Amino acid sequence: MTKVAIWCRHQGDNIIGIGPQIPWRISSDFKRFRRITENRTLVAGQTTYESFPGRTLPNRRIMVLTFDTAYEVSDPQNHQVVTDIRYFKEAEGEFYLSGGASVYKAFLTGGSKLMPEIIVDSMYCGSLNPELKGQPVDITPCIDVMNKEYRQVSKDYELDNVVTTVHIRKGAFVDQAVLKHIIESIEK
Ligand SMILES: NC(=O)c1ccc[n+]([C@@H]2O[C@H](COP(=O)([O-])OP(=O)(O)OC[C@H]3O[C@@H](n4cnc5c(N)ncnc54)[C@H](OP(=O)(O)O)[C@@H]3O)[C@@H](O)[C@H]2O)c1
Repeated sequence: MTKVAIWCRHQGDNIIGIGPQIPWRISSDFKRFRRITENRTLVAGQTTYESFPGRTLPNRRIMVLTFDTAYEVSDPQNHQVVTDIRYFKEAEGEFYLSGGASVYKAFLTGGSKLMPEIIVDSMYCGSLNPELKGQPVDITPCIDVMNKEYRQVSKDYELDNVVTTVHIRKGAFVDQAVLKHIIESIEK
């Protein structure tokens, strides 16, 4: 099994959202996310899942994390509810952890069987949308873990004020085919 955490955070404060929204709109960042995750399986917290237009993303399977056992997904053929994160300790396959903050934190601080083997860390260096109201959501505890437990294996890719880097967990087995797919998707 390979778990890949993929996020875009704001430089300096590690904010990834304000209220339910992402406080920037960078089309090349969405496109990079799509290239990396297309035809693959995402893991998303219920709040992030609800923020996808129509509660879906084309050409992706989605596993929705929620404690609500009665939660109904929008597309039962391609989306599945997971109420116990321990499922991902043993599950077979390739999973792209797509937020939000509580999901990144649960995996990155949940012990070695939950920690992703790979992190795709995008950092937005512009200013936040000042019109958004709501609580800022940040992933500082995850960045602390990344800085301590992971090492950067890519160069810095800069595009449209976003710097993207790829990191692997020190000492973990990393599927080279998955890593190759990610690097090629970034470079496309
Ligand atoms: N910039 C980025 O890369 C990026 C990516 C994704 C999201 N975001 C932002 O992140 C923010 C949302 O983050 P968030 O932390 O508030 O919400 P979230 O992680 O998307 O979802 C939280 C919900 O997920 C479920 N959940 C979380 N951990 C669980 C566990 N261990 N077991 C079972 N269910 C679990 C719970 O659902 P129930 O309440 O239903 O039980 C919880 O309320 C938004 O601002 C969004 O825009 C940013």
